[in-house]
Amino acid sequence: MNKKSPAESLAVSTKVVLPNETNTLGKLFGGALLAWMDEIAAVSAYRHSNSIAVTASVSNVSFNHPIDLGAVVTLEAKVSRAFHSSMEVIIDVSIEDRKTRERKFSNQAIYTFVALDENGKKVQVAEIDPQTEEEMKRYKSANRRRELSLILAGKMQPSAATELKALFAD
Ligand SMILES: CC(C)(COP(=O)(O)OP(=O)(O)OC[C@H]1O[C@@H](n2cnc3c(N)ncnc32)[C@H](O)[C@@H]1OP(=O)(O)O)[C@@H](O)C(=O)NCCC(=O)NCCS
Repeated sequence: MNKKSPAESLAVSTKVVLPNETNTLGKLFGGALLAWMDEIAAVSAYRHSNSIAVTASVSNVSFNHPIDLGAVVTLEAKVSRAFHSSMEVIIDVSIEDRKTRERKFSNQAIYTFVALDENGKKVQVAEIDPQTEEEMKRYKSANRRRELSLILAGKMQPSAATELKALFAD
């Protein structure tokens, strides 16, 4: 199977924060942002795998900045690394200044999706061929995040997490 670049899975969505998506302080609900992230990450996983993909795990969600009512929010999702049937998707969220249209980074999340066929059977996905320096960095660190996520899910023994162990050996 031919490798694919992260750019081939790029999915972008722009939203406006509406009153029914905010809390009593007029800030976007975390749950609303998570749903938006899940949706755009799924599109990215579909684009990479050319198949159905389901959310297997959500990790590293950071709500660094509150997002105000009326804000223009852009979500960009790309597959950072693919394993066998699973893909790590990183979603970067930014807020656009209405006057200057300048975008300020606001939040990030990392999701794992699994590609399935029409019968719900796992399918092999293409490997990722990172192109930029940042894509390379995300590709390299994805293995550690996968090991940590699998350990926390009870699907991997800590003793098998070679990349995580190497972190502490340095
Ligand atoms: C996700 C799902 C397909 C995994 O099925 P499974 O039989 O448990 O699969 P496995 O344990 O063999 O894992 C399949 C792949 O997912 C990865 N994976 C599973 N759980 C993971 C986790 N918590 N973190 C990271 N990767 C995970 C595995 O490493 C494996 O990757 P690989 O094929 O690239 O090596 C299955 O649990 C499922 O259908 N879950 C519900 C999905 C869903 O409906 N999501 C929407 C939210 S309700």
